[in-house]
Amino acid sequence: MAQLYPFSDLIGAETTPPHRMAKANGIRVTDVDGREFIDAVSALWCCPLGLTNHRLADRAAAQMTSLGYYHSFLGRTHTPVEDLAARLVQKLPAGLNHVLFGTAGSEAVDTAAKIVSYYQNARGKTDKKRIIAREAAYHGSGSMSAALTAMSATHDGFDVPDERVLRTGRPHYLLDALPGEREVAFSKRRAAELDALIRAHGADTIGAFIGEPAIGSGGVYLPPDGYWAEVQNVLARHDILLIADEIITGFGRTGEWFACETYGIEPDMMTMAKQLTGGLFPLSAVAMTDEVRDTVARQAQELEVFGHGVTYGGHPVGAAIAMECLDIYEEMGLPQHVKRLGQIMSTRLEAIRQFPGVLDVRCEGMLAGVEFDTTTPGGADLCRRVSDAAQARGVFFRVISDVLAIAPPYICTDAEIDQIMDVMADSILSVAEAHAPVAQHG
Ligand SMILES: Cc1ncc(COP(=O)(O)O)c(C=O)c1O
Repeated sequence: MAQLYPFSDLIGAETTPPHRMAKANGIRVTDVDGREFIDAVSALWCCPLGLTNHRLADRAAAQMTSLGYYHSFLGRTHTPVEDLAARLVQKLPAGLNHVLFGTAGSEAVDTAAKIVSYYQNARGKTDKKRIIAREAAYHGSGSMSAALTAMSATHDGFDVPDERVLRTGRPHYLLDALPGEREVAFSKRRAAELDALIRAHGADTIGAFIGEPAIGSGGVYLPPDGYWAEVQNVLARHDILLIADEIITGFGRTGEWFACETYGIEPDMMTMAKQLTGGLFPLSAVAMTDEVRDTVARQAQELEVFGHGVTYGGHPVGAAIAMECLDIYEEMGLPQHVKRLGQIMSTRLEAIRQFPGVLDVRCEGMLAGVEFDTTTPGGADLCRRVSDAAQARGVFFRVISDVLAIAPPYICTDAEIDQIMDVMADSILSVAEAHAPVAQHG
Protein backbone atom coordinates (compact mmCIF):
# COMPACT_ATOMS: atom_id res chain seq x y z
CA MET A 1 0.00 0.00 0.00
CA ALA A 2 1.24 3.48 -0.77
CA GLN A 3 0.32 4.90 2.62
CA LEU A 4 1.23 3.88 6.17
CA TYR A 5 -1.71 4.74 8.43
CA PRO A 6 -1.05 6.26 11.90
CA PHE A 7 -2.21 4.26 14.94
CA SER A 8 -3.54 1.49 12.67
CA ASP A 9 -2.88 -2.12 11.78
CA LEU A 10 -0.68 -1.62 8.71
CA ILE A 11 -0.97 -5.19 7.39
CA GLY A 12 -4.67 -5.38 8.29
CA ALA A 13 -5.28 -2.25 6.23
CA GLU A 14 -4.32 -4.19 3.10
CA THR A 15 -7.45 -6.34 3.45
CA THR A 16 -9.66 -4.00 5.53
CA PRO A 17 -8.95 -0.52 4.19
CA PRO A 18 -9.68 2.48 6.42
CA HIS A 19 -13.04 4.23 6.14
CA ARG A 20 -12.40 6.76 3.39
CA MET A 21 -13.88 10.26 3.53
CA ALA A 22 -14.59 12.27 0.41
CA LYS A 23 -15.86 15.71 1.47
CA ALA A 24 -17.26 17.72 4.34
CA ASN A 25 -19.68 20.52 5.00
CA GLY A 26 -19.41 22.20 8.40
CA ILE A 27 -19.77 19.56 11.12
CA ARG A 28 -20.72 16.81 8.62
CA VAL A 29 -18.37 14.54 6.70
CA THR A 30 -19.39 12.35 3.74
CA ASP A 31 -17.63 9.11 2.89
CA VAL A 32 -16.86 7.82 -0.60
CA ASP A 33 -20.13 5.83 -0.56
CA GLY A 34 -22.14 9.00 0.05
CA ARG A 35 -22.96 8.28 3.72
CA GLU A 36 -22.99 11.38 5.91
CA PHE A 37 -21.79 11.56 9.53
CA ILE A 38 -21.64 14.18 12.24
CA ASP A 39 -18.20 13.99 13.81
CA ALA A 40 -19.02 14.42 17.51
CA VAL A 41 -15.33 14.50 18.48
CA SER A 42 -14.49 17.35 16.10
CA ALA A 43 -12.31 14.82 14.18
CA LEU A 44 -9.19 14.54 16.40
CA TRP A 45 -10.61 17.08 18.94
CA CYS A 46 -9.44 19.79 16.60
CA CYS A 47 -12.22 21.24 14.42
CA PRO A 48 -14.53 23.34 16.62
CA LEU A 49 -15.49 25.52 13.64
CA GLY A 50 -16.29 22.62 11.33
CA LEU A 51 -14.40 20.41 8.89
CA THR A 52 -14.86 23.16 6.30
CA ASN A 53 -15.16 26.84 7.11
CA HIS A 54 -15.52 29.56 4.51
CA ARG A 55 -14.17 32.37 6.67
CA LEU A 56 -11.02 30.42 7.41
CA ALA A 57 -10.71 29.44 3.74
CA ASP A 58 -11.06 33.06 2.61
CA ARG A 59 -8.51 34.26 5.16
CA ALA A 60 -6.10 31.51 4.10
CA ALA A 61 -6.53 32.40 0.43
CA ALA A 62 -5.93 36.09 1.13
CA GLN A 63 -2.75 35.26 3.06
CA MET A 64 -1.57 32.78 0.41
CA THR A 65 -1.74 35.46 -2.23
CA SER A 66 -0.20 38.28 -0.19
CA LEU A 67 2.60 36.49 1.69
CA GLY A 68 2.19 32.74 1.18
CA TYR A 69 5.33 31.88 3.10
CA TYR A 70 8.01 33.49 5.12
CA HIS A 71 9.91 32.41 8.20
CA SER A 72 11.11 33.86 11.49
CA PHE A 73 14.71 32.60 11.26
CA LEU A 74 18.04 34.41 11.15
CA GLY A 75 16.91 37.93 11.88
CA ARG A 76 13.74 38.06 9.79
CA THR A 77 10.07 37.67 10.58
CA HIS A 78 6.65 38.59 9.18
CA THR A 79 3.62 40.55 10.29
CA PRO A 80 1.03 37.73 10.57
CA VAL A 81 3.07 35.79 13.14
CA GLU A 82 4.06 38.93 15.05
CA ASP A 83 0.39 39.95 15.28
CA LEU A 84 -0.63 36.48 16.40
CA ALA A 85 2.03 36.33 19.13
CA ALA A 86 0.95 39.72 20.47
CA ARG A 87 -2.72 38.71 20.46
CA LEU A 88 -2.10 35.31 22.04
CA VAL A 89 -0.20 36.70 25.00
CA GLN A 90 -3.18 38.98 25.68
CA LYS A 91 -5.45 35.92 25.76
CA LEU A 92 -3.25 33.40 27.56
CA PRO A 93 -3.48 32.90 31.32
CA ALA A 94 -1.59 35.58 33.28
CA GLY A 95 2.17 35.12 33.34
CA LEU A 96 2.52 33.43 29.94
CA ASN A 97 4.02 36.35 28.05
CA HIS A 98 6.00 34.70 25.26
CA VAL A 99 5.32 32.16 22.51
CA LEU A 100 7.48 29.99 20.29
CA PHE A 101 5.66 28.63 17.23
CA GLY A 102 5.88 25.20 15.61
CA THR A 103 3.61 23.06 13.46
CA ALA A 104 2.26 20.00 15.32
CA GLY A 105 1.27 19.21 18.88
CA SER A 106 3.93 16.51 19.32
CA GLU A 107 6.53 18.96 18.14
CA ALA A 108 5.35 21.56 20.69
CA VAL A 109 5.76 18.97 23.47
CA ASP A 110 9.21 17.95 22.17
CA THR A 111 10.14 21.64 22.10
CA ALA A 112 8.90 22.20 25.65
CA ALA A 113 10.98 19.19 26.79
CA LYS A 114 14.07 20.62 25.07
CA ILE A 115 13.48 23.96 26.74
CA VAL A 116 13.41 22.22 30.12
CA SER A 117 16.99 21.08 29.49
CA TYR A 118 18.09 24.41 28.05
CA TYR A 119 16.59 26.27 31.00
CA GLN A 120 18.06 23.99 33.65
CA ASN A 121 21.49 24.00 31.96
CA ALA A 122 21.37 27.80 31.96
CA ARG A 123 20.76 27.73 35.72
CA GLY A 124 23.72 25.41 36.21
CA LYS A 125 21.36 22.57 37.23
CA THR A 126 22.79 20.17 34.71
CA ASP A 127 21.32 17.02 36.28
CA LYS A 128 17.81 18.44 36.69
CA LYS A 129 16.41 17.11 33.40
CA ARG A 130 13.95 14.33 33.98
CA ILE A 131 10.27 14.98 33.31
CA ILE A 132 7.41 13.49 35.28
CA ALA A 133 4.33 12.45 33.28
CA ARG A 134 1.23 10.60 34.40
CA GLU A 135 -0.41 7.29 33.65
CA ALA A 136 -3.08 7.74 30.94
CA ALA A 137 -1.23 10.78 29.54
CA TYR A 138 -1.16 11.48 25.82
CA HIS A 139 1.46 13.99 24.75
CA GLY A 140 2.07 12.96 21.15
CA SER A 141 4.15 10.62 19.04
CA GLY A 142 7.38 12.49 18.38
CA SER A 143 10.47 11.43 20.32
CA MET A 144 10.24 12.85 23.85
CA SER A 145 6.52 13.43 23.37
CA ALA A 146 6.06 9.69 22.67
CA ALA A 147 8.19 8.85 25.71
CA LEU A 148 5.99 11.12 27.86
CA THR A 149 2.83 9.48 26.50
CA ALA A 150 1.66 6.60 28.68
CA MET A 151 0.69 4.35 25.81
CA SER A 152 2.84 1.31 25.15
CA ALA A 153 2.15 1.48 21.40
CA THR A 154 4.06 4.78 21.21
CA HIS A 155 7.07 3.17 22.92
CA ASP A 156 7.21 -0.45 21.76
CA GLY A 157 9.90 -1.02 19.18
CA PHE A 158 10.76 2.68 18.87
CA ASP A 159 13.46 3.11 21.55
CA VAL A 160 11.95 6.41 22.69
CA PRO A 161 14.14 8.26 25.26
CA ASP A 162 12.13 7.03 28.25
CA GLU A 163 15.12 7.14 30.62
CA ARG A 164 14.29 10.84 30.99
CA VAL A 165 10.70 10.09 32.01
CA LEU A 166 9.26 9.29 35.45
CA ARG A 167 5.66 8.14 35.74
CA THR A 168 3.14 9.03 38.43
CA GLY A 169 -0.50 8.02 39.03
CA ARG A 170 -3.44 9.08 36.87
CA PRO A 171 -6.07 11.38 38.38
CA HIS A 172 -8.93 8.89 37.92
CA TYR A 173 -10.92 9.13 41.15
CA LEU A 174 -13.68 6.75 40.02
CA LEU A 175 -11.40 3.76 39.43
CA ASP A 176 -8.38 4.52 41.60
CA ALA A 177 -9.81 5.87 44.88
CA LEU A 178 -9.51 3.62 47.91
CA PRO A 179 -12.77 2.39 49.49
CA GLY A 180 -14.39 5.33 51.27
CA GLU A 181 -11.73 7.80 50.09
CA ARG A 182 -13.20 11.27 49.36
CA GLU A 183 -12.15 13.22 46.25
CA VAL A 184 -10.03 15.73 48.14
CA ALA A 185 -8.31 12.92 50.07
CA PHE A 186 -7.62 11.12 46.78
CA SER A 187 -6.05 14.30 45.36
CA LYS A 188 -3.89 14.65 48.47
CA ARG A 189 -2.80 11.02 48.10
CA ARG A 190 -1.83 11.53 44.46
CA ALA A 191 0.17 14.62 45.53
CA ALA A 192 1.86 12.66 48.33
CA GLU A 193 2.79 9.92 45.84
CA LEU A 194 4.24 12.59 43.55
CA ASP A 195 6.22 14.04 46.44
CA ALA A 196 7.53 10.57 47.34
CA LEU A 197 8.55 9.91 43.72
CA ILE A 198 10.47 13.20 43.60
CA ARG A 199 12.22 12.47 46.91
CA ALA A 200 13.08 8.92 45.81
CA HIS A 201 14.77 10.13 42.61
CA GLY A 202 16.05 13.42 44.02
CA ALA A 203 14.54 16.80 43.13
CA ASP A 204 17.91 17.76 41.64
CA THR A 205 17.33 15.21 38.86
CA ILE A 206 13.82 16.36 37.93
CA GLY A 207 13.28 19.43 35.77
CA ALA A 208 9.58 19.42 34.97
CA PHE A 209 6.15 17.84 35.31
CA ILE A 210 3.82 17.68 32.31
CA GLY A 211 0.07 17.19 32.45
CA GLU A 212 -3.07 17.75 30.43
CA PRO A 213 -5.30 19.89 32.67
CA ALA A 214 -8.09 17.42 31.82
CA ILE A 215 -6.90 14.17 30.25
CA GLY A 216 -8.29 13.71 26.73
CA SER A 217 -7.05 10.78 24.64
CA GLY A 218 -6.27 8.69 27.74
CA GLY A 219 -10.00 8.43 28.57
CA VAL A 220 -11.42 11.91 29.36
CA TYR A 221 -10.44 12.09 33.04
CA LEU A 222 -11.40 15.34 34.74
CA PRO A 223 -9.20 16.26 37.69
CA PRO A 224 -10.70 15.48 41.10
CA ASP A 225 -11.35 18.32 43.57
CA GLY A 226 -8.19 19.94 44.84
CA TYR A 227 -5.92 17.95 42.52
CA TRP A 228 -4.11 20.75 40.69
CA ALA A 229 -3.62 22.90 43.81
CA GLU A 230 -2.01 19.93 45.58
CA VAL A 231 0.21 19.05 42.63
CA GLN A 232 1.35 22.66 42.19
CA ASN A 233 2.31 22.87 45.88
CA VAL A 234 4.53 19.82 45.52
CA LEU A 235 6.19 21.09 42.33
CA ALA A 236 6.84 24.54 43.82
CA ARG A 237 8.44 22.94 46.88
CA HIS A 238 10.91 21.08 44.68
CA ASP A 239 11.63 23.81 42.12
CA ILE A 240 10.08 21.75 39.29
CA LEU A 241 8.58 23.43 36.21
CA LEU A 242 4.95 22.78 35.31
CA ILE A 243 4.08 22.26 31.64
CA ALA A 244 0.35 22.37 30.94
CA ASP A 245 -0.43 20.47 27.76
CA GLU A 246 -3.49 22.33 26.42
CA ILE A 247 -3.34 20.80 22.94
CA ILE A 248 -6.91 19.48 23.31
CA THR A 249 -8.25 21.82 25.98
CA GLY A 250 -6.93 25.16 24.71
CA PHE A 251 -9.33 27.68 23.14
CA GLY A 252 -12.50 27.02 25.02
CA ARG A 253 -13.00 23.27 25.21
CA THR A 254 -13.55 23.12 28.99
CA GLY A 255 -15.67 26.28 29.15
CA GLU A 256 -12.88 28.83 29.74
CA TRP A 257 -10.44 30.09 27.15
CA PHE A 258 -7.88 27.72 28.67
CA ALA A 259 -8.36 24.78 31.02
CA CYS A 260 -5.64 26.28 33.23
CA GLU A 261 -8.32 28.87 34.10
CA THR A 262 -10.94 26.15 34.66
CA TYR A 263 -8.72 24.39 37.20
CA GLY A 264 -6.60 27.22 38.67
CA ILE A 265 -3.32 26.08 37.09
CA GLU A 266 -0.40 28.51 36.81
CA PRO A 267 2.03 26.81 34.46
CA ASP A 268 5.58 27.80 33.55
CA MET A 269 4.97 26.58 30.01
CA MET A 270 1.90 25.70 27.98
CA THR A 271 1.62 23.75 24.74
CA MET A 272 -1.20 24.44 22.28
CA ALA A 273 -2.19 23.39 18.74
CA LYS A 274 -5.41 21.93 17.24
CA GLN A 275 -8.10 24.56 18.01
CA LEU A 276 -5.53 27.35 17.57
CA THR A 277 -6.30 27.13 13.83
CA GLY A 278 -9.62 25.29 14.10
CA GLY A 279 -7.72 22.21 12.92
CA LEU A 280 -7.65 23.47 9.33
CA PHE A 281 -3.92 24.25 9.26
CA PRO A 282 -0.99 22.75 11.20
CA LEU A 283 0.23 25.30 13.74
CA SER A 284 1.37 24.83 17.33
CA ALA A 285 2.95 26.97 20.01
CA VAL A 286 4.76 26.77 23.32
CA ALA A 287 3.97 29.63 25.68
CA MET A 288 6.24 30.49 28.61
CA THR A 289 6.72 32.87 31.50
CA ASP A 290 9.17 35.77 31.65
CA GLU A 291 11.39 33.68 33.93
CA VAL A 292 11.67 30.79 31.43
CA ARG A 293 12.01 33.05 28.40
CA ASP A 294 14.61 35.34 30.00
CA THR A 295 16.71 32.40 31.20
CA VAL A 296 16.52 30.80 27.76
CA ALA A 297 17.37 34.13 26.09
CA ARG A 298 20.46 34.63 28.29
CA GLN A 299 21.61 31.07 27.58
CA ALA A 300 21.11 31.64 23.85
CA GLN A 301 23.18 34.81 24.04
CA GLU A 302 25.93 32.90 25.79
CA LEU A 303 25.80 30.16 23.14
CA GLU A 304 25.56 32.83 20.43
CA VAL A 305 22.24 31.64 18.96
CA PHE A 306 18.97 30.00 20.01
CA GLY A 307 19.51 26.85 17.97
CA HIS A 308 15.96 25.65 17.62
CA GLY A 309 13.17 26.14 15.06
CA VAL A 310 11.38 24.46 12.14
CA THR A 311 10.82 25.69 8.61
CA TYR A 312 7.05 25.88 8.87
CA GLY A 313 6.83 27.03 12.49
CA GLY A 314 4.64 30.14 12.68
CA HIS A 315 3.67 29.83 8.99
CA PRO A 316 1.96 33.04 7.83
CA VAL A 317 -1.07 31.17 6.47
CA GLY A 318 -1.48 29.35 9.80
CA ALA A 319 -1.02 32.60 11.70
CA ALA A 320 -3.67 34.33 9.55
CA ILE A 321 -6.09 31.43 10.08
CA ALA A 322 -5.43 31.53 13.84
CA MET A 323 -6.26 35.27 13.87
CA GLU A 324 -9.54 34.55 12.07
CA CYS A 325 -10.29 31.74 14.54
CA LEU A 326 -9.75 34.15 17.43
CA ASP A 327 -12.13 36.63 15.75
CA ILE A 328 -14.77 33.90 15.37
CA TYR A 329 -14.30 32.62 18.93
CA GLU A 330 -14.73 36.15 20.26
CA GLU A 331 -17.79 36.81 18.07
CA MET A 332 -19.47 33.56 19.20
CA GLY A 333 -18.96 34.64 22.80
CA LEU A 334 -16.41 32.07 23.89
CA PRO A 335 -16.28 30.86 26.64
CA GLN A 336 -19.98 31.45 27.56
CA HIS A 337 -21.06 29.82 24.30
CA VAL A 338 -19.23 26.58 25.23
CA LYS A 339 -20.58 26.70 28.77
CA ARG A 340 -24.14 26.95 27.43
CA LEU A 341 -23.86 24.09 24.91
CA GLY A 342 -21.91 22.11 27.51
CA GLN A 343 -24.81 22.51 29.91
CA ILE A 344 -27.14 20.86 27.38
CA MET A 345 -24.64 17.99 27.03
CA SER A 346 -24.26 17.67 30.76
CA THR A 347 -28.03 17.53 31.38
CA ARG A 348 -28.44 14.83 28.74
CA LEU A 349 -25.48 12.88 30.12
CA GLU A 350 -26.95 12.86 33.63
CA ALA A 351 -29.93 10.94 32.22
CA ILE A 352 -27.55 8.55 30.43
CA ARG A 353 -25.76 7.91 33.74
CA GLN A 354 -28.75 5.72 34.74
CA PHE A 355 -28.65 3.59 31.56
CA PRO A 356 -27.70 -0.10 31.71
CA GLY A 357 -23.98 -0.73 31.32
CA VAL A 358 -22.99 2.88 32.10
CA LEU A 359 -20.45 3.24 34.91
CA ASP A 360 -19.86 6.98 34.78
CA VAL A 361 -20.47 10.13 32.76
CA ARG A 362 -18.29 13.23 32.96
CA CYS A 363 -18.48 16.59 31.26
CA GLU A 364 -16.55 19.85 31.48
CA GLY A 365 -17.61 22.49 28.99
CA MET A 366 -17.88 20.60 25.69
CA LEU A 367 -15.45 17.82 26.66
CA ALA A 368 -17.25 14.71 27.82
CA GLY A 369 -16.98 10.97 28.23
CA VAL A 370 -19.22 8.01 28.99
CA GLU A 371 -17.43 5.15 30.77
CA PHE A 372 -18.93 1.67 30.44
CA ASP A 373 -18.98 -1.07 33.02
CA THR A 374 -16.94 -3.98 31.73
CA THR A 375 -18.33 -6.27 34.42
CA THR A 376 -21.90 -6.25 33.02
CA PRO A 377 -23.04 -9.00 30.58
CA GLY A 378 -21.31 -8.33 27.25
CA GLY A 379 -19.48 -5.45 28.97
CA ALA A 380 -16.02 -6.25 27.64
CA ASP A 381 -16.89 -4.94 24.21
CA LEU A 382 -19.75 -2.62 25.16
CA CYS A 383 -18.08 0.65 24.27
CA ARG A 384 -17.02 -0.52 20.82
CA ARG A 385 -20.54 -1.81 20.08
CA VAL A 386 -22.18 1.43 21.21
CA SER A 387 -19.79 3.32 18.95
CA ASP A 388 -20.68 1.03 16.01
CA ALA A 389 -24.40 1.54 16.72
CA ALA A 390 -23.88 5.31 16.77
CA GLN A 391 -21.96 5.18 13.51
CA ALA A 392 -24.84 3.26 11.92
CA ARG A 393 -27.05 6.17 13.08
CA GLY A 394 -24.72 8.73 11.48
CA VAL A 395 -22.58 9.95 14.41
CA PHE A 396 -18.89 9.36 15.11
CA PHE A 397 -17.76 9.14 18.73
CA ARG A 398 -14.26 8.10 19.81
CA VAL A 399 -13.63 4.78 21.55
CA ILE A 400 -10.90 4.97 24.20
CA SER A 401 -10.88 1.53 25.78
CA ASP A 402 -14.12 1.57 27.85
CA VAL A 403 -14.79 5.27 27.41
CA LEU A 404 -16.73 6.91 24.61
CA ALA A 405 -15.41 10.44 24.11
CA ILE A 406 -17.54 13.39 23.01
CA ALA A 407 -16.14 16.78 21.98
CA PRO A 408 -18.53 18.31 19.43
CA PRO A 409 -17.73 21.32 17.27
CA TYR A 410 -18.63 24.66 18.86
CA ILE A 411 -20.68 25.56 15.77
CA CYS A 412 -23.27 22.85 16.56
CA THR A 413 -26.76 24.24 17.02
CA ASP A 414 -28.74 23.29 20.13
CA ALA A 415 -30.70 20.88 17.92
CA GLU A 416 -27.50 19.24 16.67
CA ILE A 417 -26.23 18.77 20.22
CA ASP A 418 -29.57 17.14 21.01
CA GLN A 419 -29.26 14.97 17.92
CA ILE A 420 -25.79 13.81 19.01
CA MET A 421 -27.05 13.04 22.51
CA ASP A 422 -30.15 11.27 21.11
CA VAL A 423 -27.89 9.03 19.05
CA MET A 424 -25.70 8.35 22.09
CA ALA A 425 -28.77 7.41 24.17
CA ASP A 426 -30.41 5.26 21.46
CA SER A 427 -27.16 3.46 20.73
CA ILE A 428 -26.56 2.57 24.39
CA LEU A 429 -30.14 1.36 24.81
CA SER A 430 -30.11 -0.70 21.60
CA VAL A 431 -26.85 -2.43 22.59
CA ALA A 432 -28.11 -3.01 26.15
CA GLU A 433 -31.36 -4.50 24.78
CA ALA A 434 -29.44 -6.91 22.59
CA HIS A 435 -27.72 -8.18 25.76
CA ALA A 436 -30.65 -8.14 28.15
CA PRO A 437 -31.07 -11.55 29.85
CA VAL A 438 -33.79 -13.59 28.13
CA ALA A 439 -36.91 -13.79 30.37
CA GLN A 440 -37.41 -17.23 31.98
CA HIS A 441 -40.92 -18.70 31.65
CA GLY A 442 -42.74 -21.47 33.47
C1 LIG B 1 -2.82 16.51 24.90
C2 LIG B 1 -2.13 16.24 23.60
N1 LIG B 1 -0.83 16.55 23.46
C3 LIG B 1 -0.18 16.34 22.30
C4 LIG B 1 -0.82 15.81 21.21
C5 LIG B 1 -0.07 15.58 19.94
O1 LIG B 1 -0.48 16.46 18.94
P1 LIG B 1 -0.21 16.12 17.41
O2 LIG B 1 -1.03 14.92 17.06
O3 LIG B 1 -0.65 17.36 16.67
O4 LIG B 1 1.23 15.88 17.23
C6 LIG B 1 -2.17 15.47 21.31
C7 LIG B 1 -2.89 14.89 20.17
O5 LIG B 1 -4.02 14.47 20.27
C8 LIG B 1 -2.84 15.68 22.54
O6 LIG B 1 -4.12 15.34 22.70
